Amino acid sequence: MSSYDVIIIGSGPGGYVCAIRCAQLGLKTAVVEGRETLGGTCLNIGCIPSKALLHASHQLHEAEHNFAKMGLVGKAPSVDWKQMLAYKDDVIGQNTKGIEFLFKKNKIDWLKGWGAIPAPGKVQVGDTTYETKNIIIATGSTPSTLPGITIDEKIVVTSEGALSLPKIPKKLVVIGAGVIGLELGSVYARLGAEVQVIEFLDHITPGMDAEVSKNFQRILAKQGLDFTLGAAVQGVETAKGKATVTYKLRKDDSTHTVDADTVLVATGRKPYVDGLGLAALGVSMTDRGQIATDSHYATNIKGIYAIGDAITGPMLAHKAEDEGMAVAEVLAGRHGHMIYGVIPGVIYTHPEVSSVGATEETLKAEGRAYKVGKFSFMGNGRAKANFAGDGFVKILADKETDRILGAHIIGPMVGDLIHEICVAMEFGASAQDLAMTCHAHPTYSEAVREAALACGDGPIHS
Ligand code: NAI
Repeated sequence: MSSYDVIIIGSGPGGYVCAIRCAQLGLKTAVVEGRETLGGTCLNIGCIPSKALLHASHQLHEAEHNFAKMGLVGKAPSVDWKQMLAYKDDVIGQNTKGIEFLFKKNKIDWLKGWGAIPAPGKVQVGDTTYETKNIIIATGSTPSTLPGITIDEKIVVTSEGALSLPKIPKKLVVIGAGVIGLELGSVYARLGAEVQVIEFLDHITPGMDAEVSKNFQRILAKQGLDFTLGAAVQGVETAKGKATVTYKLRKDDSTHTVDADTVLVATGRKPYVDGLGLAALGVSMTDRGQIATDSHYATNIKGIYAIGDAITGPMLAHKAEDEGMAVAEVLAGRHGHMIYGVIPGVIYTHPEVSSVGATEETLKAEGRAYKVGKFSFMGNGRAKANFAGDGFVKILADKETDRILGAHIIGPMVGDLIHEICVAMEFGASAQDLAMTCHAHPTYSEAVREAALACGDGPIHS
């Protein structure tokens, strides 16, 4: 029987990053993964493939809307959907093989199959039981659906089916105006589908800074997404290859139906812990079905830890990665930790949306005195040249101390721009610190500096 210092169950961003750090720290490490390829939801059916389709469909949008303005004339490209899916699959393959390479390089064993924990210190994969000093559960999450809806991954799909539709639907109904609904809704709208997004709340993207959310909705509506807000979906019926979605408007309780070729259910995700044997082990769970852990990711059972979507906190790949590194450090006798107040969030539409830290709404609720520094991308030379003037940078800083408390950005490449603000926040920087930092011209990042200047004596270009 093989024995290890640590066996990680799940090879998504939480699990594989954790494994690499464990190996780097000298621990004998194995990862259990039942999928045919490594990388979990993120690499196989989530972040990476959706970014490939977002990239390809954005190129089409550019060709259709902006090429002629720049003197690039000629027939706009048409969509070869099969080839677009093949490109997406190739991107997945390159990334998952990359993880396999990293496992070999770091001497991490891949235990192929689905893992269970028959007892503390033991992991069973198929007919083999392995001994290990520590077990880390990194099994991620799975889409949660609604009562009255049966997912068939053909007509009524989750994000997984939506990444491999046999053809581009004429009419797509998206249930839920969260991150998944808006990213994939954007893809199909750009590819010519009529997209209707039905959302329970009166606004899109719950938890997002309200001003950004409103602007984001306006921009997406201009791109052709149709929003039905304040509407609770009651059920979806399918017949003859089509679907009918029934929803109730909250304002007057009236019931409506809409027909669609495809329905994407994007109403959130839930922790995936099936088949691990947690109940028999007596592992404590939260009332939302997450594995309960302490600040060192330890469950109530000695030697069993958990990270990522399976525990509390935002369901984000990078949050899982950081927890993976932190728990590896803990197991190696170091002080692993992560700062939960500085986790960036990004929506990879066009324009992108990113945020970190407090929103105006949370600061108001706390009664904290704050100031706002805002700068529009219309005042940024690079953005104007690239037809990317829609959007703005908004920095929130403490009214007295000028310390940066949060930032919310909508605009070009802002999923990358947010990180200078994250670094500043990690160092406890003031808005003035950012404002005094020389930024290269012409870059989008100058808009961040201008927003920081707006927290003080004022921006230059507005
Ligand atoms: P979400 O929680 O972001 O949004 C779900 C939406 O569905 C909410 O706005 C909710 O009000 C709405 N909803 C719920 N029940 C409804 C009903 N009966 N009728 C109409 N609307 C209803 O969930 P989503 O988009 O499925 O994403 C799941 C998780 O995956 C999130 O935690 C997200 O952060 C993560 N994710 C992150 C990405 C990124 O970082 N770019 C990309 C994709 C997913």
